[in-house]
Amino acid sequence: MKKHITLLPGDGIGPEIVAAAKKVLDVINERYDYEFTSEEQDIGGIAIDKTGNPLPEETIKACENSDAILLGAVGGPKWANQSVRPEQGLLKIRKHFNLFANLRPVTIFDALESSSPLKKEIVQGSDLMIVRELTGGLYFGQPSERRDNGKSVIDSLTYTRDEIERIVKIGFDTAMLRDKHLTSVDKANVLESSRMWREIVDEIGKEYPEVTVSHVLVDAAAMKLITNPKSFDVIVTENLFGDILSDEASVITGSLGVLPSASLNQDNFGLYEPIHGSAPDIAGLGKANPIGMILSVGMMLKYSFNLESEAAKIEEAVNKVLNDGYVTADLMSDDGQVLSTMEMTDKIISYL
Ligand code: NAD
Ligand code: IPM
Ligand code: MN
Repeated sequence: MKKHITLLPGDGIGPEIVAAAKKVLDVINERYDYEFTSEEQDIGGIAIDKTGNPLPEETIKACENSDAILLGAVGGPKWANQSVRPEQGLLKIRKHFNLFANLRPVTIFDALESSSPLKKEIVQGSDLMIVRELTGGLYFGQPSERRDNGKSVIDSLTYTRDEIERIVKIGFDTAMLRDKHLTSVDKANVLESSRMWREIVDEIGKEYPEVTVSHVLVDAAAMKLITNPKSFDVIVTENLFGDILSDEASVITGSLGVLPSASLNQDNFGLYEPIHGSAPDIAGLGKANPIGMILSVGMMLKYSFNLESEAAKIEEAVNKVLNDGYVTADLMSDDGQVLSTMEMTDKIISYL
């Protein structure tokens, strides 16, 4: 099998974790005799510094000529107070490739049950999937601007029926492959967009009689997620709610640094990235947890290349490393041995 992958390290800890991902890919290449080639391109702050554009044309072209994209993270204090921002590069690439379906699995590794600040009984055995709409809602609504000489501001929340239907279907399809329970999260007590969302979930639900559906308001969902995470199987929700709930859900698993994601379009072309950001507070220190990034490589193998067993091997290797008591600094552990980003990566590779 021959595949070409564009690597987008980005900013902050991005380059450190993408280097980890590349190392894992190279090992899979050798061990399984695949031909994965890759090239690095700029996105985010580093691209602004070099070209003034957070998503240069050259990066888009390279991604268009690839079979998949792996992204580290973008953003940082250096670019926080300017009109051209690194995050615009990420939003643009999601829109350009129509990556509307963001899958964010939240699965706790047994060894990390005591890494969560939540009680062990609560987090033990948690396993849920957040299906987040990624190319609509407040992130992309127009107008979005300051008005009246800065005396007022507007951001717009818009969705078309088609945009809601396609993500809701992914939610149901995902539930069919799991425990057949779908929680649709909205704010239908306040927002018209949520009322339409709820109607569409009920309509499409008729095509999936085996799936049980719950509608939960986002504020209550935020509470339930950390008081009873095991009551969730698949969550389907709009862009901003999914963003917030997924960082919250990472608390169940011990650290934001361990959660991967896949952002897919209708043709299953995908961009894979950990859910966390550029972690400016630890950038360059070799402290970044590479697990979310490495599990994102696993998701790429599974969703883009249909290499399910290789993807499972990556998860097993991570599981074994953690079971043997190795951690990174972000994971609370009483007796674990704390490894750097590259030491953790090498340990995972040694278990592959
Ligand atoms: P963040 O996710 O970067 O960091 C939050 C906290 O989690 C920090 O304390 C950080 O050190 C820690 N953390 C995150 N990932 C870690 C890892 N792999 N290992 C160990 N610790 C980790 O969120 P933030 O500080 O709010 O945002 C920083 C920048 O990142 C902002 O510019 C934001 O826009 C951007 N961001 C980018 C992405 C992305 O590229 N997909 C995602 C989220 C935030
Ligand atoms: C994420 C990030 C992004 C988002 C930002 C950086 C635009 O928080 O991927 O979760 O909000 O989607
Ligand atoms: Mn986020």
